[in-house]
Amino acid sequence: MSAPSMTLYHNTLSPFVRKVMVLLHETGQQDRVALQDCVLSPVSPDPALIADNPLSKIPALRLADGNVIHDSRVILEYLDQQHVGNPLIPREGAARWRRLTLASMADGIMDASVMVRYETVLRPVEKHWDEWLDAQRDKIRRALAVLEQDAIAELTSHFDVAAISVACALGYLDLRFPDLDWRAANPQLTNWYFEVSQRPSMVATMPKS
Ligand code: BEZ
Repeated sequence: MSAPSMTLYHNTLSPFVRKVMVLLHETGQQDRVALQDCVLSPVSPDPALIADNPLSKIPALRLADGNVIHDSRVILEYLDQQHVGNPLIPREGAARWRRLTLASMADGIMDASVMVRYETVLRPVEKHWDEWLDAQRDKIRRALAVLEQDAIAELTSHFDVAAISVACALGYLDLRFPDLDWRAANPQLTNWYFEVSQRPSMVATMPKS
């Protein structure tokens, strides 16, 4: 085994980082990346991280040549072009746009979830904006309903960028919002998620709070 040639700004709780980690495992590249853990705060950024990503967002990936790429979508594209197996992001055609759109839906669930998390945990309670929080939760529920009704066969067909992204979004809901009870309204997603959760890539990247 050779020394890692890339460094990933990392936090085990971030669903966006988890997507990258799952892809690394699925494509056998996990030993190519060293992990640099970040403690994240929206108001006091990590100095090492902002030197490499002024937006102070993870994941960011420092490549062997010193260049840094972000965000998670760009990193997934990059890493998917660095292995010799079947691509996990279709390179062209209708499949590419469909799978990336499903992945984008999952990213939207993560975005809304992380914003709700920040608003409810970090903001003083008297400043909470309940209507806005409800609107974020509605986004999550609507996107899950579309995945349940329209996309389950596509998710089941192969574990690619779309499936990885949806699995990481559901994992984050389990971690931070068990009371949302997403399984109650989404039985097919529930069964699918149960299956994919057992993949070694998902087990190895399970968030620990
Ligand atoms: C969390 O603790 O929920 C979290 C951590 C890093 C990124 C996003 C969310």
